[in-house]
Amino acid sequence: MISLTLQNIFIAVGLFVTSYYTFRFVFLLVDILLPGKSLSNYGAGKDGWAVVTGATDGIGRALCIEMAQKKMNLILVSRNMEKLNTLKAELEEFGIKVKVVSIDFASAASKDWDSVKNVIESVNVSALINCAGLSHDYPKPFEQEDLSRCDDILEVNCNSLTKMTRLVIPRMKTRRNGLILNIGSFVSTVPSPYLAMYSGSKSFVQVFSQALGAELARCGSSQPFTTVPYFSHALINYIVETYMSRKFWLNLSKGHLEGIRKRALAKQAKAKKQ
Ligand SMILES: NC(=O)c1ccc[n+]([C@@H]2O[C@H](COP(=O)([O-])OP(=O)(O)OC[C@H]3O[C@@H](n4cnc5c(N)ncnc54)[C@H](OP(=O)(O)O)[C@@H]3O)[C@@H](O)[C@H]2O)c1
Repeated sequence: MISLTLQNIFIAVGLFVTSYYTFRFVFLLVDILLPGKSLSNYGAGKDGWAVVTGATDGIGRALCIEMAQKKMNLILVSRNMEKLNTLKAELEEFGIKVKVVSIDFASAASKDWDSVKNVIESVNVSALINCAGLSHDYPKPFEQEDLSRCDDILEVNCNSLTKMTRLVIPRMKTRRNGLILNIGSFVSTVPSPYLAMYSGSKSFVQVFSQALGAELARCGSSQPFTTVPYFSHALINYIVETYMSRKFWLNLSKGHLEGIRKRALAKQAKAKKQ
């Protein structure tokens, strides 16, 4: 009798655990496979504008091209005016309107922020993509990193992101519509030794975004959440969040970054010899 009850308990626990992991995996597939919300909800093809920081290179540039293809007007923000104007000309080929603002987030004065504000307030901004980001040149022990680089990481990754967000929220709230996309990183999911400032700054981005999303839910925000939309990254994120301990992943990351650091130092030594 007793063994039968124990057997039932084991079966119930087994079913619960299997259902839990199956549900999480199905949720992951749904998140990746379902199409996202159309940009037309934010004015693409009409009079909507998106502001993109870090627009001239990498992920920011790729997002600008995708949005231009979907007929979203764009305000491009980064430091280099020449690169901004080249990209502007390229994007205008898609038949959209493009404005540019040059600002160095690491050292911006209030007049620079006024320029950004003026451009943002001159049009109907319905989307903000905070993409500009700064990391370390290579993995370094925290106490060996220049303090000025530590300050710049906080300015670019955290302070500028919050200031940009403050600039767009009032009108989004009035219209009860808007998209704010803050680009994070795995270094916030798995703390990254030797990239401590960058890792901490991206953790700020993740937690700030989720807290703000929950605040804005009252104003019609559909869902405060963090997503990893690229399939292989989403799978890694699922594995990291589901299996093994945080300490396990942290130690794995430490070993990986120590390897990168060793190779970077060897490369520097070789360059010095030449
Ligand atoms: N690449 C990756 O593997 C990776 C992985 C995880 C997360 N991320 C995140 O994704 C975002 C984009 O990364 P990415 O690698 O695509 O960037 P990237 O290629 O290095 O481009 C950075 C962009 O930001 C602008 N920028 C840099 N410093 C700036 C400053 N002080 N003020 C204003 N603009 C500045 C740059 O333009 P100017 O030089 O003209 O100013 C450029 O447009 C970042 O937030 C990064 O942390 C990247």
